[in-house]
Amino acid sequence: MKILILHGPNLNLLGTREPEVYGKTTLQELNRKIREHAKKLGATIRIKQSNHEGVLIDELQRVRKWADGVVFNPGAYTHYSYALRDAVAAIGVPTVEVHLSDIQKREEFRKISVIAPVCVAQISGLGVNSYLKGLERVVKK
Ligand code: DQA
Repeated sequence: MKILILHGPNLNLLGTREPEVYGKTTLQELNRKIREHAKKLGATIRIKQSNHEGVLIDELQRVRKWADGVVFNPGAYTHYSYALRDAVAAIGVPTVEVHLSDIQKREEFRKISVIAPVCVAQISGLGVNSYLKGLERVVKK
């Protein structure tokens, strides 16, 4: 199994960004946990973070023939990026949308995901475990 782990905007600031919402784990630590879990599951992973919508789209397109699954935290793009939604639909690779925080229990605008309808699952509110569960979900798919 080959899996792309894709982190969207502002996730490079994890650890210092609103720690009461997103926790104190840095992106580097999160990626280490993801790598360890992937190893246990026997999955090969590629990890990418970008603050730019177009770069995220390019990355999704780049792996379309390589990846068996994608674990994607689109950050705030979750709530309004039809371009990312179209990219997920276009590549036809099973994608799980993940969020550290529980997007259903925050501001109104976060309750809507325009990307979830083209994903196989949405996992939200489990912190680092959202990514680990997301990985399990795409590996089992
Ligand atoms: C997030 C939730 C989004 O609403 C927010 O814009 C983020 C992070 C999360 O992981 O909880 O950047 O995707």
